[in-house]
Amino acid sequence: MRVERVLLKDYTTLGVGGPAELWTVETKEDLLKATEAPYRVLGNGSNLLVMDEGVPERVIRLAGEFATYDLRGWVGAGVLLPLLVQEAARQGLSGLEGLLGIPAQVGGAVKMNAGTRFGEMADALEAVEIFHEGRFHIYLPQELGFGYRQSRLPPGGIVTRVRLKLKERPLEEIRRRMAEVDAARKGQPKRKSAGCAFKNPPGHSAGRLIDERGLKGLRVGDAMVSLEHGNFIVNLGQATARDVLELLKRIQEELPLELEWEVWP
Ligand code: FAD
Ligand code: EPU
Repeated sequence: MRVERVLLKDYTTLGVGGPAELWTVETKEDLLKATEAPYRVLGNGSNLLVMDEGVPERVIRLAGEFATYDLRGWVGAGVLLPLLVQEAARQGLSGLEGLLGIPAQVGGAVKMNAGTRFGEMADALEAVEIFHEGRFHIYLPQELGFGYRQSRLPPGGIVTRVRLKLKERPLEEIRRRMAEVDAARKGQPKRKSAGCAFKNPPGHSAGRLIDERGLKGLRVGDAMVSLEHGNFIVNLGQATARDVLELLKRIQEELPLELEWEVWP
């Protein structure tokens, strides 16, 4: 196990966030020790807005035995989803194609029920192992309250591994589906971001609403509404959490949108 002081801006895709104590756990024993005091769990940091002051709790990151996988058996929550999507395709296993292009760890994808209009994480799950109150418990997906970009995990629950529901399909068919998802993502920016900032209101695209309001390019410091997609806030270089919060506020003054990101602390 490694314990170190870090700046969370180096561990989030938006590139924003202050200091924290990072606990990199590699074994079950590490996890027991790391959870003895208040904690948060960090995945790939791709749906987080971390304040400039950082967070007082321990920040736990899964590695070692939690980052190993067998697509036909258990898959560690610390494994990167993009790696699994490619590996499943290589093995002729279908079920993850809709998750192409989502920069998450498996645990973070479960927690957020990450997805696209081609499929969500919950659709691909057979069972989920969650550590809470000092023990490991196995859940069926229907017990975890999955909805659009949401789940109801037990309080303090840490997803440790999952079993996936994958089907053997011809490689060509899997590749065709992946190409379709890839094409649907073409309009998304490449700059530093945390994906879509807001949830889509039922029947609407938040990105389109922001675009129609003429808010693309709106800027506070180095935080800017992407010119490519209205629902992405990009960090042009040195954006602070304060910049990003102010920009979110200005958008929400114009449109009643619900934040998709999680704000720490
Ligand atoms: P983090 O951002 O690190 O954490 C998010 C939440 O999950 C936090 O509450 C954290 O505590 C919790 N968490 C993390 N790991 C665990 C664990 N092991 N156990 C329990 N809780 C845990 N999202 C989509 O849904 N669809 C998209 O198409 C999409 N596209 C994106 C494109 C880009 C370029 C970027 C930057 C982001 C995109 N996102 C998208 C957002 C993001 O990738 C997802 O929300 C993803 O699920 C976040 O996973 P993460 O591992 O980064 O979690
Ligand atoms: N549109 C605009 N202007 C914009 C953005 C979009 O006119 O600035 C239009 C598009 O042309 C399209 C429609 O709005 O006709 C929908 O846009 P898009 O296909 O990009 O989908 P979205 O609803 O904006 C959702 C998810 C994305 C996911 C894509 C692909 C949400 C909040 N967003 O975006 O997920 O990648 O579909 O399926 O649900 C995320 O959650 O972080 C995320 C990136």
